[in-house]
Amino acid sequence: MKLIPYGKQSIDEDDIKAVVQVLQSDWLTTGPKVAEFEEAFARHVGSKYAVAVSSGTAALHASMYALGISPGDEVVVTPMTFAASANCIVFQGGVPVFADVNHDTLLIDPEQVENKITSKTKAIIAVDYTGQPCDYDVLKDIAHRHGFFLVADACHSLGATYKGKNVGTHADLNAFSFHPVKHITTGEGGMITTDSPDLAEKMRTFRNHGITTDHRQREAQGSWFYEMVDLGYNYRLTDFQCSLGMSQLKKLPLWIDRRHEIAYRYDVAFRDIPQIKPLSVSNEVFHAYHLYVIRLNLNGTHMDRDMVFHSLREEGIGVNVHYIPVHLHPFYRNRYGTRLGLCPIAEKAYKHILSLPIHPTMSEQMIDEVIQKVKKVISI
Ligand SMILES: Cc1ncc(COP(=O)(O)O)c(C=O)c1O
Repeated sequence: MKLIPYGKQSIDEDDIKAVVQVLQSDWLTTGPKVAEFEEAFARHVGSKYAVAVSSGTAALHASMYALGISPGDEVVVTPMTFAASANCIVFQGGVPVFADVNHDTLLIDPEQVENKITSKTKAIIAVDYTGQPCDYDVLKDIAHRHGFFLVADACHSLGATYKGKNVGTHADLNAFSFHPVKHITTGEGGMITTDSPDLAEKMRTFRNHGITTDHRQREAQGSWFYEMVDLGYNYRLTDFQCSLGMSQLKKLPLWIDRRHEIAYRYDVAFRDIPQIKPLSVSNEVFHAYHLYVIRLNLNGTHMDRDMVFHSLREEGIGVNVHYIPVHLHPFYRNRYGTRLGLCPIAEKAYKHILSLPIHPTMSEQMIDEVIQKVKKVISI
């Protein structure tokens, strides 16, 4: 049986043409499409700069590098996220400090963030979990009051707004992912937006081995000379990926509308079912609905979340669980001694959450099927 996946890319003929055109050109990587995509993305979001990299993980790593995170520095991060949001701190030798989430939204709780700040804190990473922007004004105020930076892990929230302004313009650095399940895709890929020319420049060097010029710039100058000024990585995004990204970006507004239509169908269908509770959405945000997460209240039934998960999978619904709280992964337990009880709200929520399929290629029939199977499995 073919599952209805929880997320999926949308690729059309224009996307394919955009990639093929670049494959037939002279530059497969470090060519003109990289700057074109960066400019288009910065314009779309409303930021001054955008730096393209090879994944969302690379975007987060470049952010930590640009902020100078080094061994012993602490960075406050949410546990309710994909591991990469915390791993990027570890890549730089920093220490992730987990601050618990708000019970209703499962977004990082600013009060908990304040409680975790020490003299070693150098940054906060706020994750727009499911596509709902965090309370940026409050988090930015905390970070700037203490003299450090706010990073937005916006890998779920391209297309969202907070207080009427696009995600990508609120934090000092904003990291995006173009993995196929995200809002737009380049296969693998990522971007960081910022208004700081210095931070943008640092990240451009970092994605290119720590070398200040790239191959095309040297060719234009007729020079072979280059210097590596710091330790960097090969985190470059290819030209054909950038071309695909530009083609995808044009369709983003339509896709966000479709995600809203699907979310609304689910909201209405589950509104009066006490066993199902969607996460709260603040009226200060426009949600990007990367994920549609429900919280199951199965008290007094013989079921738990895992049983519902397996039954829905058997029914052909590709439900998923986002996320195992990061501090509970064996790596974090072993290296940092993080334990159950550190973030009780996230830990409790984890046992009850389930992500339903949501992506722009879903037909009305698929949405009906998800609703009907969810109702059937929880026996309503
Ligand atoms: C919140 C979050 N941060 C970071 C990442 C990493 O992005 P990528 O898979 O492009 O490296 C993901 C990807 O799933 C994510 O969901």
